[in-house]
Amino acid sequence: MKMKVRKAVIPAAGMGTRFLPATKAQPKEMLALVDKPIIQYGVEEALAAGCDQVIIVTSRGKQSIEDHFDVSYELEKMLEARGKIDLLRLVHGISDMVHVAYVRQKETLGLGDAVLTARELVGDEPFAVLLPDDVVDAQIPCLKQMIEVFDETQSSVIATQIVEGEAISAYGVLDVKPTDGRFKGKLFEIQNMVEKPALKDAPSDLAIIGRYVLTPAVFETLSQTQKGSGGEVQLTDGIKLLLKKERVYAYVFEGKRHDAGDKLGFLKATVELALKRKDLGEPFRLYLKTLDLG
Ligand code: UTP
Repeated sequence: MKMKVRKAVIPAAGMGTRFLPATKAQPKEMLALVDKPIIQYGVEEALAAGCDQVIIVTSRGKQSIEDHFDVSYELEKMLEARGKIDLLRLVHGISDMVHVAYVRQKETLGLGDAVLTARELVGDEPFAVLLPDDVVDAQIPCLKQMIEVFDETQSSVIATQIVEGEAISAYGVLDVKPTDGRFKGKLFEIQNMVEKPALKDAPSDLAIIGRYVLTPAVFETLSQTQKGSGGEVQLTDGIKLLLKKERVYAYVFEGKRHDAGDKLGFLKATVELALKRKDLGEPFRLYLKTLDLG
């Protein structure tokens, strides 16, 4: 019988040091892109991809994430009393969207450790991982594109994008073999992965981004993974071990990925997403045109 991806894990236990001081007392995942916390983009993508269970990995100081997906009783009462029905629907819709399960990562020991923390809630089935600070703007949600590949290959799939020049050194980079068949040109079989290589050592221009569909075998390999750089358990190291047991694919998704966990990436994402908004796009465009950018 074919395996189906029903569960999505969203790691949100990190410290967000790249975004200090904003993240001193509030989770990076709750910073708003236009008017929506970045983690909500991830949750909505998971639902649009057909997942019906979302597991968020949290840590101390992340209470506002749980509050955001919970019912806000006082706010709803107030909006109702003031007849603000559209806002009431908007606010209530968030708590109604999905049942979210939370699991705590006691120490921020890295992304691999965060994923491992969700092991019991995921169980013995394939699952998705979405890094909330990678916000992907796509006609077909990025995770949906990947699940389509998983449905056919029944193997783990990592999202990848082409990164040119020196910028590749900021990513995990893939050594790959092309595939034939339905996804030819976009789907590659991974041979190896190199974390943040110098440009001259990069095995390709294919960079790993924060969307994964993984088979449950990765829990076993993650539990065997030694701490790597910065004393953290890296997800890529766990996947490297998985490569020895199973095929793992890389998929060049269609869409634009924003690194909203970085200040400049966050600014770019804010501008691009605001320009696309029906309600804000036009006045924002007119305002931008008045700026002297010389
Ligand atoms: P990042 O490396 O982007 O997040 O991890 P970070 O560590 O919070 O950020 P910086 O680098 O210090 O600015 C990607 C995602 O993985 C989560 C983060 O919350 C983020 O959503 N994460 C990271 C965990 O859940 N646990 C960890 O131990 C590390």
